[in-house]
Amino acid sequence: MKKGGYFVCESCGYESVKWFGRCPSCGAWNTAREVVIPQNERRKDVPQPAVLKSLKAEQKHERIQTGFSELDEALNGGLMAGQVVLLGGEPGVGKSSLALQICGHLAKRFKVLYVTAEESPEQVAYRSERFGFRSEDNIVVLSENDPEQVLNVLDSSYKFLVVDSLQAMYSERLGSYPGSVAQVRTAASLITERCKALSIPALLIAHITKSGEIAGPKMVEHLVDTVIYFEGETNTDFRILRIVKNRFGPSGEMCIFEMTESGLKQIDESLLIDVEEPPAGNCLSCVIEGSKPLVVQLQALVSKTRSVSPRRVSNGYDLTRLLMLIAILERQAHLPLESRDVYVNVMGGLKVTDTAADLAVACAIVSSLTEVSLGRAAAFGEISLDGRIRPVHRIRNRLDALNRVELDRILLPTGPDANEEGCVPLRDVRSLMNVLGVRRVDSN
Ligand SMILES: Nc1ncnc2c1ncn2[C@@H]1O[C@H](COP(=O)(O)OP(=O)(O)OP(=O)(O)O)[C@@H](O)[C@H]1O
Ligand SMILES: [Mg+2]
Repeated sequence: MKKGGYFVCESCGYESVKWFGRCPSCGAWNTAREVVIPQNERRKDVPQPAVLKSLKAEQKHERIQTGFSELDEALNGGLMAGQVVLLGGEPGVGKSSLALQICGHLAKRFKVLYVTAEESPEQVAYRSERFGFRSEDNIVVLSENDPEQVLNVLDSSYKFLVVDSLQAMYSERLGSYPGSVAQVRTAASLITERCKALSIPALLIAHITKSGEIAGPKMVEHLVDTVIYFEGETNTDFRILRIVKNRFGPSGEMCIFEMTESGLKQIDESLLIDVEEPPAGNCLSCVIEGSKPLVVQLQALVSKTRSVSPRRVSNGYDLTRLLMLIAILERQAHLPLESRDVYVNVMGGLKVTDTAADLAVACAIVSSLTEVSLGRAAAFGEISLDGRIRPVHRIRNRLDALNRVELDRILLPTGPDANEEGCVPLRDVRSLMNVLGVRRVDSN
């Protein structure tokens, strides 16, 4: 091996001890960059293993609150000492805002370090003024993009660290350009290692690629304890935070924020629905994203197609699943959808992955097609290819969440919980027309 170095593919992160012209992993040309490993002295001390029961377990009460109760709940109680969190999201979604607001909250008790490599310290000061904590003494801003310089400043007097952003960190020693695999990886590992050693929780802000993944090597996601994605439609103020990996709690948790002039605010989910006199094509549902039941509003618009093949468009609900549902409704419920365009939308720019939303999407489609409103109704249940409405998990939790909204009826799969007042148990999609009181739909 070449003394003190190895080669990394800039494109995919493939590593080799030898230089390569074409990456054997991704096939890209001229992407090999040398990574120089600092020549440390060989360790002479012998590692000391310890018997498991002699170790002190990390306690739940040692968590640090972020100032956002929903985020703390999603993080299983808050941040642990030394917990390194990677926060990824599209440009302008509000990553820096969230990080600065957490700093503003923590600064009431601790000294925090905000490393800004993308914006000037003045921009950070301007934002803190907008958020109303300009006068905090405990927020220290460092305008720096060399990770080693950050380590020179970071000491145990700080109780929280923000790095904005990881892709802007740049070490001249590595020779490759900012944002490259080697740079991102080196910055992430140096900072993570130091935060662990000093037990400082940290938030590392990361860019995402066009396909929506955190830019840089996948290894960075393995390195950190928690990976959070911050999502939001640019045309709405709603922002959704999803925890996709968490070493200190369950993953899949989510919470919803609203972007306002004074920063991000946690919102009550009732803002995402509209129950007053819903027109045809609307149906509420209760989905479980992570561990939390969330009431969402599904909308469908079915209109006569003007092109050769009908259009199917989905916002927030899986398009493949929508195509499958349309085929089921055509075949099993004999609905004339082949000559109609179908648009589906989840209100508030939310993305729904729970298959329990199937029944609400089907209800919204049938309601729009027949132009008959479902009234104040909600529906949940998974639809199988044979048209049956299948039970989903945690029916009780879903009913409890929906009972907090004033509804006339809840459509759900047959089962022991489906006999309550207001519940309408359904066996298959053929019964949807009966629910709406419609006999048949004209195929024209
Ligand atoms: N005065 C304001 N009132 C309301 N919202 C604002 C105001 N100023 C900025 N914003 C919102 O803040 C967003 C920018 O937030 P922020 O800079 O935290 O995003 P970011 O994810 O860090 O972006 P980048 O990736 O570009 O650094 C804007 O897109 C806008 O929605
Ligand atoms: Mg930013």
